[in-house]
Amino acid sequence: MVDYQFLNAFKFKTGLTLKNRVVMSPMTTMTSFYNGMVSTDEVNYYAARAAGLGMVITGVANVTESGKGFEGELSVASDEMIPGLQRLANAIHQNGTKAILQIFHAGRKSNHKILRGEEPVSASAIAASHPADSEIPRALSNKEILHIIDSFGQATQRAITAGFDGVELHGANTYLLQQFFSPNSNQRNDDWGGNRQKRMRFSMAVINETLKIAKKSPRPFVVGYRISPEEIETPGIRLADSLYFVDQIKDLVNYVHLSMGSYKRTSLNDKTNTQTILSQFAELTKEHLPLIGVGSVEKASDANAVLADGADLVALGRELLREPQWVQKVIAGDEESIRNTISPVDMNELAIPSVMQVYLQTAFKSVMNFTTDPNAPVDYQNTLAPMEGGKKEH
Ligand SMILES: Cc1cc2nc3c(=O)[nH]c(=O)nc-3n(C[C@H](O)[C@H](O)[C@H](O)COP(=O)(O)O)c2cc1C
Repeated sequence: MVDYQFLNAFKFKTGLTLKNRVVMSPMTTMTSFYNGMVSTDEVNYYAARAAGLGMVITGVANVTESGKGFEGELSVASDEMIPGLQRLANAIHQNGTKAILQIFHAGRKSNHKILRGEEPVSASAIAASHPADSEIPRALSNKEILHIIDSFGQATQRAITAGFDGVELHGANTYLLQQFFSPNSNQRNDDWGGNRQKRMRFSMAVINETLKIAKKSPRPFVVGYRISPEEIETPGIRLADSLYFVDQIKDLVNYVHLSMGSYKRTSLNDKTNTQTILSQFAELTKEHLPLIGVGSVEKASDANAVLADGADLVALGRELLREPQWVQKVIAGDEESIRNTISPVDMNELAIPSVMQVYLQTAFKSVMNFTTDPNAPVDYQNTLAPMEGGKKEH
């Protein structure tokens, strides 16, 4: 077996220790019950994948009812959710694997059907540019903003009670935290909008509230932050904005997780900037906090390259759908048998829940490397992937 650095243990400043540096990237299963309670199908899906990994980040969970973005999404919006979340954390905690609950508010990336008749909310009353039928959200009042901030804290408390080892604030993929930071979706004139620093105020308030609760955890606990480095709309978030953002939080949160379809990506907006996005963030986070790199990692050599480019941890998403025993196979020196494609016929055997199977074969078909897909796999180095908030391909 090659001496891969990603198989080495890792310790966060808070004391949380991972047995290796391979992380399961958060992936929504769309398999929770109608009200967001954990279902047995999704417990089985995580149980089939967790054992080899250092840490599993769950699919995203909404912190308030108004924050629901999809049917079948996990919820952490009320105490009723705790017993199911406890089952989920237990299923992940096999073999010492650590469990992180990803939490968010979808903001304008929702609609009145998902919200049972209520209209979506956001920083400003501006619809997302895609899908084309995106609803115009209602701009949140100051009081509502304070309530959502408080709800992130309450969600963190529930994650602690349920036995999770941390929460990840989903500030990426165009959801509410990103909507406040983006000049595209935040055109407020009050203290929650304006210049870059003011547009960051909502994220800062959520981070501080979450950290306040996390500090009370009886066990080592981490608070991570996920960020999308760029938007392609104008106005929109540019790389310099996200680097500024991470610079502001680098001594506050416990890790930063990038969201990109390819770890090799360079700037989508500035073609003169030829340095990888990953290494630009790594220069900033080095000596301050761990950075998670991600995007189209399929082979051990990819995971190695992510760490060599400056990340401390490497996340795998789609590859763990195709190959639940990825780490075990690398450790066993059996890399040749790692599957980089997936047959639709194998999805039951791979414990992929039936609703997720449909979702992967429709909206995400072109990104899954299906053996039956005549299209060559899409390279997300130079374009936003559907799972980053880019356009869905059918
Ligand atoms: C089916 C699916 C569901 C996803 N759901 C989430 C999610 O809930 N939260 C999130 O931050 N990213 C989500 N993503 C994005 C992944 O975490 C990851 O960033 C992306 O797939 C790129 O990594 P990969 O190339 O290893 O798959 C999802 C991706 C897929 C394929």
